[in-house]
Amino acid sequence: MPNKSPTLTVMERAARKAARSLIHDFGEIEHLQVSVKGPADFVSNADLQAERILKEELGRARPGYGFLMEESGSVPGTDEHHRWIVDPLDGTTNFLHSIPHFCVSIGLERDGNMIAGLVYDPLRDETFWTERGGGAFLNERRLRVSARRQLADAVIATGIPFRERGDHPVYLAKLERIMGATAGIRRFGAAALDLAYVAAGRYDGFFEFGLSPWDIAAGVLLVREAGGYVSEVDGGKQMLTSGNILAANDHLHARLGALLNKA
Ligand code: IPD
Ligand code: CA
Ligand code: CA
Repeated sequence: MPNKSPTLTVMERAARKAARSLIHDFGEIEHLQVSVKGPADFVSNADLQAERILKEELGRARPGYGFLMEESGSVPGTDEHHRWIVDPLDGTTNFLHSIPHFCVSIGLERDGNMIAGLVYDPLRDETFWTERGGGAFLNERRLRVSARRQLADAVIATGIPFRERGDHPVYLAKLERIMGATAGIRRFGAAALDLAYVAAGRYDGFFEFGLSPWDIAAGVLLVREAGGYVSEVDGGKQMLTSGNILAANDHLHARLGALLNKA
């Protein structure tokens, strides 16, 4: 059985505590769907509450580490080397609509490199976790990215831009090329879980544009430690700053990249 380091134990404990609060609130959401105002305010409070819990738990265990969190933004610590990158609730739109697919994502960065990551799906009780150089795991099981080599057999996840986000015609042209070449596309609505599922070999690949660092910090390390390849869609390495990402096994990564980057 793989042993979690003290740091990963801290991350898991924090994620589970925040998740208990999310699950409680998720249980209330259904009642609010029917109200005219809807559950939007309630959900942003659920989100804030989960972030407060994570900040408190992680801060207590590792005083001095900085934070980059979706709601509170960048909070520098006295330790200039370490920073938590946290999404307290990834899959907010799902949560808001009572769709049971969301997670807590915690990444730990040291001197600009991701060294640990944990994505926790409370409804399935699935903990995806990794430490640099130590492999990736789902609960107690070691993860490997899928071995598929044919695009025609591959299931690819993505995030579809909405409202004013992204360039819709450009995205649709790219999506069309992937649609024509693969076994199917999925849009489940939680980027951190999309990456965790690539690490677990459930999806053969994932691409999205316009993401934030907290969506992908933990997931990037999970995919790499599961033997996969992650880059920006055009092959660059600045995923956390550009927010665009392509993850897959080595073989499919090159093929997907070629399709996505075709002019
Ligand atoms: C969103 C989810 C979604 C992705 C969006 C993200 P949120 O994060 O990860 O899958 O398509 O771009 O903003 O808002 O649920 O934390
Ligand atoms: Ca997110
Ligand atoms: Ca979020």
